[in-house]
Amino acid sequence: MSVPRPAAVIVLAAGEGTRMKSKTPKVLHELCGRALVDHMLTAARGLQPERLIVVIGHAREQVEAHLSATAPDAVPVVQEKQNGTGHAVRTVLESVGAITGTVLVTYGDTPLLRTETLAALLERHAEDGNAVTVLTAEVPDPTGYGRIVRDEGGAVLEIVEEKDADPGQRAIREMNSGVYAFDGSLLADAVKRVGAANAQGEEYLTDVLSILREDGHRVGAHVAGDYVEVEGVNDRVQLAFARRVLNERILKAHMKAGVTVIDPASTWIDAEVTLEPDVVLHPGTQLHGSTRIASGAEVGPASTLTDTVVGEDAVVRNAVCESAEIGPQATVGPFAYLRPGTVLGRKGKIGTYVETKNATIGEGSKVPHLTYVGDATIGTGSNIGAACVFVNYDGVSKHHTTVGDHVRVGSDNMLVAPVTIGDGAYTAAGSVITDDVPPGAMGVARARQRNIEGWVPRRRAGTRSADAAARAVAAQEDAVPGPSEE
Ligand code: UD1
Ligand code: CA
Repeated sequence: MSVPRPAAVIVLAAGEGTRMKSKTPKVLHELCGRALVDHMLTAARGLQPERLIVVIGHAREQVEAHLSATAPDAVPVVQEKQNGTGHAVRTVLESVGAITGTVLVTYGDTPLLRTETLAALLERHAEDGNAVTVLTAEVPDPTGYGRIVRDEGGAVLEIVEEKDADPGQRAIREMNSGVYAFDGSLLADAVKRVGAANAQGEEYLTDVLSILREDGHRVGAHVAGDYVEVEGVNDRVQLAFARRVLNERILKAHMKAGVTVIDPASTWIDAEVTLEPDVVLHPGTQLHGSTRIASGAEVGPASTLTDTVVGEDAVVRNAVCESAEIGPQATVGPFAYLRPGTVLGRKGKIGTYVETKNATIGEGSKVPHLTYVGDATIGTGSNIGAACVFVNYDGVSKHHTTVGDHVRVGSDNMLVAPVTIGDGAYTAAGSVITDDVPPGAMGVARARQRNIEGWVPRRRAGTRSADAAARAVAAQEDAVPGPSEE
C-alpha cells in the first residue's frame, strides 16, 4: 500500500532543553551540518505533508529566525507557556484551525528518525483505520519515558508517564516515542478535553489516546524496528551519540555508492556533502557544509573541507579548505590553508605551508612552498618561488596583485599590491616588487651584493670563524703552484 500523504506534520520544539546547559536553544544545536530541528524537518518533508508546522516557545526569536532562513516552508506557531505536549498541539489547532486528514505529531529533538519509519507509522495507521497510532519502541532502559500499557490481548490501553506510573507500569520496557499519527478531526476535539491532573500539572498529549479509546475509537501502536531512531537528544552525551549514529549512516550510504573510506571511525561527513564514486577519503577527514568532491579525487589524511569543491582526480592532503574551489588533477598540501575565494585551476598546485585567500590560480600554475597569496590573480603555467608574500594590506585597505601567464616569480619575493607582473616576466630572488613588471622583463628589486674582504680576521679575530677562514686561505695558497716549481 502506498503511504498516504499527511495533511500536516506538527513538530513540537517549544521546550527549553535545560539539560543541554547551553545558551543555544536545544533544537538549534548542530549535527552533521544541520540543526537538530532541520533533521526532523528533512525527514518530515520526505512524507510530502500538505503543511509543516513547528511549535516554538523558548528562545522563539532565535528559533524563528533560524527557521525562516533554513525552512521557509515551515509555519511557526508560538506556544507562549510550555504547559505540556497536549497544550502545544491544542495551541496549534487553535491557531490554524482543525486539520482534517492525518496529522503526524513529532519532536524537534529526534534527529535520527527517518522518513521510512514515519512512513511505516502512517501506513499502519491507515491500514488499521485507527484514530491514533503511536510509534513505540522496546528499549533496554525506559527510564524517563512514558510507558505503553497494553491489555492481555496486546491492545493499547493508555500511556503512563514515568512520574505517574506505579512500579508495575515502570517495569514496562515499551516506551512512547512521542510520535503519533492522528485523525485530525478527532484530535481537534480530544485535545480540548485533556486535563492537567497529573504529577507535572501539564496537559499531556498522551492522554488523547485514552480519551479516544474511551470514545470507542481504534487506538494502535507501531513498534519501531530500531529503538535508537526514536531516542531524543536531551544532553550533550546524547548529542554525541546521535552524531556518531548519523555519521555512520552517512558514511555507509557513500561507501555503498562507491566511495572508499579508509577509516570510518575518524571520518566525519555532513549530511549535505556530495561525493562521486571512486573518491578516496583518508583517515582524519572532515567534510562540512556543501562540500562536493568529484570522482577519483583523494582527500586526507587529516583534512577539513568546508563548502569546498574538489575536481576530478585532485589530491588534497593535510589541508584546511574553506569555500575554496580546487580544479581537476590539482594538488593541495601537505599542510596548506585555503581560505574563502581560493580558486585553483586544473593541474594547479598549492603546496606545503602555503596560505591562500581570495586568489585565483590558473591552470597548471604552482605555488609550491612557504607562501602567502592573498587578493591575487595568477594566470596559467606560472610558478611562484619559495617563500613569497603577496603583500595585500597597507594597514587600511586590501589591494590586488595580478601575475600573468608563464611568469617565474623568484624565491623570497614580496609582491607589494597593487602590482602587476606581465606575461612571461621573471623576477629575481629576494626582490621587493613595488612597480609593475612588463611582459617578458626581468624585475630585480634588491641591493647589489658587496663583499668586504678580510672583515672576519680583522673584526672577529680569535673566533672559530676566523680560524676556519685562515685555514681556507692557507689551503688556497698551498694549492697555488709556487714559483720554484715552475
Ligand atoms: C514526552 C512524552 C513521553 C515520551 C517522551 C519521548 C508526554 C506527556 N510525554 O515526555 O510519553 O516517552 O516525550 O521523548 O507527551 N514541548 C513543547 N511544548 C510543551 C512541552 C513540550 O513544544 O509545552 C516539546 C519539547 O520541546 C520536546 C517535546 O515536546 O521537543 C517533548 O517534551 P518533553 O518535555 O521532553 O516531554 P517528555 O517529558 O520527555
Ligand atoms: Ca524529552
